[in-house]
Amino acid sequence: MDTDAETAARRLAFQKGYSQEHGSWKHRSLIEDAKFDTVTNAEFEKLEKPDDDKKIIENTVPLSFIVTLFDISHVWRILSEIEKLSQVRLEHIESRSNNKKDRKADVFFGMVCTEGHSDSIIKLINSLPEICKLKIIEDDGPDKHIYKDIWIPTHISDLDKCNHLLTKYDPDLDFNHPGFSDKVYRNRRQHIADLAFNYKHGEIIPDVEYSENENRTWFHVYSMLKKLYPTHACKQFNRAFAKLEAEKVYSQTEVPQLRKVSEFLQRLSGFQLRPVAGLLSARDFLASLAFRVFQCTQYVRHHSAPEHTVEPDCVHELLGHVPMLADPYFAEFSQEIGLASLGASDEDIEKFATLYWFTVEFGLCKEKGEIRAYGAGLLSAFGELEHALSDVPERRPFDPDTTSIQPYQDQDYQPLYFVAESFETMMEKLRQYSSQIKRPYEVRYDPYTQSVKLLNNSEAISETVQSMKADLTHLQHAIRRIHSISIA
Ligand SMILES: [Fe+2]
Repeated sequence: MDTDAETAARRLAFQKGYSQEHGSWKHRSLIEDAKFDTVTNAEFEKLEKPDDDKKIIENTVPLSFIVTLFDISHVWRILSEIEKLSQVRLEHIESRSNNKKDRKADVFFGMVCTEGHSDSIIKLINSLPEICKLKIIEDDGPDKHIYKDIWIPTHISDLDKCNHLLTKYDPDLDFNHPGFSDKVYRNRRQHIADLAFNYKHGEIIPDVEYSENENRTWFHVYSMLKKLYPTHACKQFNRAFAKLEAEKVYSQTEVPQLRKVSEFLQRLSGFQLRPVAGLLSARDFLASLAFRVFQCTQYVRHHSAPEHTVEPDCVHELLGHVPMLADPYFAEFSQEIGLASLGASDEDIEKFATLYWFTVEFGLCKEKGEIRAYGAGLLSAFGELEHALSDVPERRPFDPDTTSIQPYQDQDYQPLYFVAESFETMMEKLRQYSSQIKRPYEVRYDPYTQSVKLLNNSEAISETVQSMKADLTHLQHAIRRIHSISIA
C-alpha cells in the first residue's frame, strides 16, 4: 500500500503484469499472496528507484527525526537544504497533521548519512526558522523496513480502497478449474463478482438469488459436515452453529444471504461481512480484520465438484469461518492479527499470513482432554476434518515464533497442525509475538468511531489512558456491588 494513489496504481499495474508473466502464481493461498507481495514490492522499488539515481555515500549510518513545522508548505525548504548536503541521502519522508487547528505538521525524515556527520546535519536542520521542534528518532540499526512507505486504512470506510484483487482465480483463466468450460457458470461468477466490485462501505449487501444447482451444492456439503460437527468441532463452533440454525439464518436447503449473516455476526461479536470478488492481497485481507470486517465471497463452487473447491467460496466462508467469528473471544483473536498487521513490513505480513493459515484456517485446540477443530479450512471440508483429528498428521503446540515460519501445504491435506491449549493462551502468545514486530507505532481500534488510532505520540496515549480509566472505574464499581450483595 502506498502513500499516494498514483504510486498505488503504478504498483498495482506492475503486480498485474508480473502475475501474468509468472503464471505459477495464479493459484495461491493467503501466504502465497504475501510472498508475492514481498517479491513484487522489492522489484517495484528497484524499478521506481533505480540504484543509479541514488546518491552514492560511503560508510553510512541511519539518521531519522521528526520535525514539527509551522506550516506544512515549509517542507520544501527542508528538502532543498537536505538536497544540498553531499553526505546525506533521503530514503523516506512522511507527514502527519499535528492535530491542531493551525497548519502545523509533523514530518518524519528517514535518511542515511556519512558516519560522523549526524550532529552537524541535525544542527543545521534545527537552525532553520521554519522549524518549531525537532525530535531525533533512535537508531533501529538494520531494521530499515520501519522507514518503508506503508499506507494503512484508518477508518472502516478506507476498506473501499483495500480491494487489490491481484490473485483473482478466474474459472476462465485456468483449464483445471471445474467451471472452465461452463459458460453459464462463468457468466454467473462474473455477475456475482460485479456485485462485490461495486460494493461500498455502508451499503446494504445485495442479495443473490441462488440457483437450484448452487442450493444443491450447499445442501450436499452442509449435510455431510453437520454429522461430523458434534464430535469434531470445538464447543464455540457448535454453540454458534446451533444459534445460526435456531435463528433460521442457516438452513440445509438454501445458501444463506451474506446480508442476514452479517447482521447476525454484528449482534454477537461486532464482526461484519463485506462482499469480495476473490482472493485479496494478504495485506488488504488482514487489514480488514483490524476493523472486525471479514471479506467474504458470495459465489458458490462449481456443482460438478461439491466436495472440493480450488479457491475460497461462500460455502467455505459460511460453514468454516462464520460460526467461529460469532464467538467474541475468537473474534478478538482475529482482530488482533489484523491490528498487528497494520504498518508491518512485507516479511512480517508473510509471517502473519502463515499464522493465520495455521490458526484461523487450520487450527486445532484442546477441549476437556480431546482435540477439536476450530480452523475454517477443516470445518468446511469433510475429508480434511476427519484427517486432522486422526492419528495420521503430526501435531505440535501453537507457538507463534515457530508457527509463523512453518512451511505449509495447499495442494493436499496438511501433514502438520498446531494445537492451542485454549483461545486465551493463544491470544496471549499472539500479543507477545506482535509486540516484537518492528513497526513505527502501536495501534488501537476505537469502536465508537470505527477507526484505528496510531499510538505514536503522548497525546494519543493520554487519550487512550483516559478511556481505559473510565472502563476500570466501571469495573471497580461492579466488583464492589457484587461484593456488597454477597455479604448482604
Ligand atoms: Fe478461509
